[in-house]
Amino acid sequence: MSLKVNHRLLPLIALAGVSLAGATIGMANEPAADLATTDAYGDTASLSAVAQLGHKLFYDPSLSGSGQMSCATCHDPNNHYAPANDRAVQLGGPHLDQPGIRAVPSLAYKMSTPSFSVGAESAADEAAEAAPMTEASGVALANAPVAVAGPLTAQAVVKADSNAPDLVPQGGMFWDGRVDSLEEQALQPMISPFEMANADAAAVYAKLKQGYGKDIAALFGNNVLNDQDMTIAEVGFALARYQIEEPSFHPYSSKYDYYLRGKATLSDAEMRGLKLFDDPNKGNCASCHLDKMTGDGQMPNFTDFEFEALGAPRNADIPANADAKYYDTGICGPLRNDTYSAQPQNCGLFKTPTLRNVATRHVFFHNGVYRSLEDVTRFYVKRDTNPDEIYPKDANGKVAKYNDLPAQYQANIDVIDAPMNRKLSDAPALNDTEIVDVVAFLKTLTDGYDPKKDGVKAAN
Ligand code: HEC
Ligand code: HEC
Repeated sequence: MSLKVNHRLLPLIALAGVSLAGATIGMANEPAADLATTDAYGDTASLSAVAQLGHKLFYDPSLSGSGQMSCATCHDPNNHYAPANDRAVQLGGPHLDQPGIRAVPSLAYKMSTPSFSVGAESAADEAAEAAPMTEASGVALANAPVAVAGPLTAQAVVKADSNAPDLVPQGGMFWDGRVDSLEEQALQPMISPFEMANADAAAVYAKLKQGYGKDIAALFGNNVLNDQDMTIAEVGFALARYQIEEPSFHPYSSKYDYYLRGKATLSDAEMRGLKLFDDPNKGNCASCHLDKMTGDGQMPNFTDFEFEALGAPRNADIPANADAKYYDTGICGPLRNDTYSAQPQNCGLFKTPTLRNVATRHVFFHNGVYRSLEDVTRFYVKRDTNPDEIYPKDANGKVAKYNDLPAQYQANIDVIDAPMNRKLSDAPALNDTEIVDVVAFLKTLTDGYDPKKDGVKAAN
């Protein structure tokens, strides 16, 4: 295991708007010995003391401006750490009436996300391999030797400026990759005006000192407690440790996991769906949503962590979209503001999400525009062949293709990767029956599969 970044410095660096190269928290994503029993929530006995503090913080509404919202409000443990309601965006703020601007991602399977970088296509895989961390190595992390990678090197900036096609943005937290790690991420929802809505970091610090002073001093020492940035950094560290150590964030207990390990059989429809998901001339989904076990037996996380502009339709259910001049351009903002957000080739790009537990999500894509997996899959295959079925018409009756991205960035939209490489009036890469099969496969990715129950069902 190697820890490359001093976790104590991360929030400072994040607030200063500087990116780190090579900051990664990862763990070997091996399935637990007994998959069926790893889905239990609330058993903190096996968590390190730091993770137990993280557990308390995760569920504590007093850490919000409203006093009513915790991490778990949006990242619901009963729905794989994603919202259980149907809203495209959640409401937060001091009075819980401020709408967000993006769909809430699940927090499951985030621990192997590499830090944000722009590089060769395989860099994400290398980063994930470079920093594996087993659960057993747990808290040792707190004492691990540290080396701050520092601000962006000149070389990295030059690379990012290049238009070379093999240089793709990848990794990082959030849909736009704007922070590098789980530790660093934690402060952001606490001070976001439409999430937990504390006035500022100082307000968070005051609450932490009051509510968790004893815990923080006991775990990290009194010096930490006297320093605002260090206190917040340790709290970010505790929240990250909780998400890394708590098994329900990464149970690897879906039917597909059992199938990969030779312990379950896919139905005919699921198997057809898997083939279409893999086939480069059909769904080609696996080219971005990786679905194979690695050579060393790690389960796939259904993302290559790379960013793409897919051109999802605009979602009128997001109040911010009422302003016709407002656009969510992913890496280019509104929430990201750094070297990368100023580069036009990054505008419209969003991080490829995991598809684990995707069938339990109520809304899909960064803007929550779709509400069924059939509609998402239809978008992929009909965006270019039948855009009139995907996008609304403009005032002149013309199909408003790519209507959620300003015209000057539409050239960033992926028209190279199948199935998005077809032309108007080509046949879609998947027909309606095949779409149903792909969705049947996606439903095998939900954790908590019970092979015994399924066996009984199959026998009937
Ligand atoms: C009001 C709802 C809300 C609350 C409360 C909230 N989050 Fe989030 N969370 C979001 C949204 C929305 C995003 C995606 C934002 C974006 O991409 O810009 C997100 C993203 C994340 C991510 C990145 C996931 C990914 O796929 O990259 C992590 C990690 C996370 N939240 C952890 C937390 C923690 C820890 C807390 C409590 C301190 C918390 N969240 C509280 C709504 C919320
Ligand atoms: C070129 C890479 C690429 C390919 C190929 C691809 N995806 Fe995606 N997928 C993405 C990206 C990027 C997003 C997020 C886009 C956004 O939110 O704007 C995404 C999002 C999704 C989501 C929404 C998940 C969520 O949590 O909101 C689903 C479902 C999905 N893809 C399924 C598929 C299926 C099924 C296929 C094959 C038919 C496929 N994808 C092919 C990159 C890809």
